[in-house]
Amino acid sequence: MELKKLTNYLKALSWIIVALVITCATLCVFPLKHSADNSSDSSTVVGDSLISHVSQFKEISFGDNAEGEMASYGEKLIKNTYEYFYDGEVKIGNRLACGSCHLNGGTKAFAAPYVGLINVFPTYIGRENKIESLEERINGCFERSMNGRAIPENSREMRAIVTYIKNISINTVNKGRLEGQGFIKLDVPKRAADLKHGQLVFEGKCTSCHGKDGQGMRQPEGKGYLYPPLWGADSYNDGAGMARLLTAARFIKANMPLGATYDAPQLSDDEAYDVAAYINSFDRPKKANKELDYPNLHKKPKDSPYPPYADNISLEQHKHGPYNF
Ligand code: HEC
Ligand code: HEC
Repeated sequence: MELKKLTNYLKALSWIIVALVITCATLCVFPLKHSADNSSDSSTVVGDSLISHVSQFKEISFGDNAEGEMASYGEKLIKNTYEYFYDGEVKIGNRLACGSCHLNGGTKAFAAPYVGLINVFPTYIGRENKIESLEERINGCFERSMNGRAIPENSREMRAIVTYIKNISINTVNKGRLEGQGFIKLDVPKRAADLKHGQLVFEGKCTSCHGKDGQGMRQPEGKGYLYPPLWGADSYNDGAGMARLLTAARFIKANMPLGATYDAPQLSDDEAYDVAAYINSFDRPKKANKELDYPNLHKKPKDSPYPPYADNISLEQHKHGPYNF
């Protein structure tokens, strides 16, 4: 009698165990979706699986399909731009790469990364005083940073670049700008830039790669640069963002000498400010029609190195500070 009771008891127990195992297995395959579906704020729900700071970006592999193929073509265009645009069928601009400034293929925090940009554009751009698409913004860099010309928005190349940006934006918080986009903020020195000091910084910390003459070093084979030039015929033109003192200083602070990062910079704010002024004091290609930039002059950044201005501060002070106005 006792034995039968025990067997029944064991049987019941094993059913309970089986039921528990099945429930657990099902949950593993179809995890509970919490409130993700009925909340508009997916960022707080999914928590740490969504990127809110560009530094959290992890290498991703693109799909084995047409979209994935376009994305990886886009990645090549960004990293080896000169291979495709310098003297291919479409001769466009200089021998830099988009990745010369948008480091690690546009995935490095505070090097104007592309990660998450798909959620930022279209957005207002002061230079043209209008809402711009991502394609228009990319063409802005083709015309200025690459000292070239705009490429058609429906070209395979433009589609590839946008598809790449879309793919590296997957898993990012989809509300506006992420931390780590754009450039780092500086404590802007309350004085004019000191070109002599800038030269000392340049000679001490930049020439090993960019050369004493700032012309960098060409790839032994290939069409581009191992170390890009910082001025001269093959550099960004004078209408580019990098031609502005504060923009260049903010880029340099978090990224140069190569290896520097926003959380382990190698230059002080003063050094970045002065060396930026120094490299931008040399000749570079000229952008035509710059006077048409910033149709609303009140939106023109203080460090824009070309007139006209809405104020009567001198060109010299706009170029080199102090920016106490
Ligand atoms: C010489 C450096 C340089 C090169 C080369 C360059 N860019 Fe840029 N890019 C910049 C700077 C600086 C900015 C930010 C300008 C600003 O808003 O002040 C920028 C901004 C952008 C933005 C908008 C970023 C944002 O956060 O809104 C996109 C998109 C972009 N560039 C794409 C490209 C592409 C594509 C190429 C290659 C065809 C390229 N850039 C080449 C310097 C460069
Ligand atoms: C160890 C080599 C190295 C040193 C040292 C170095 N750079 Fe660079 N720099 C690079 C490379 C490489 C790139 C392009 C980014 C890439 O390919 O990853 C670059 C890109 C740049 C760019 C944007 C692209 C361009 O051509 O305009 C600027 C501006 C720049 N460096 C300024 C500086 C300054 C200023 C210093 C000194 C404070 C410095 N660099 C020190 C290697 C170096």
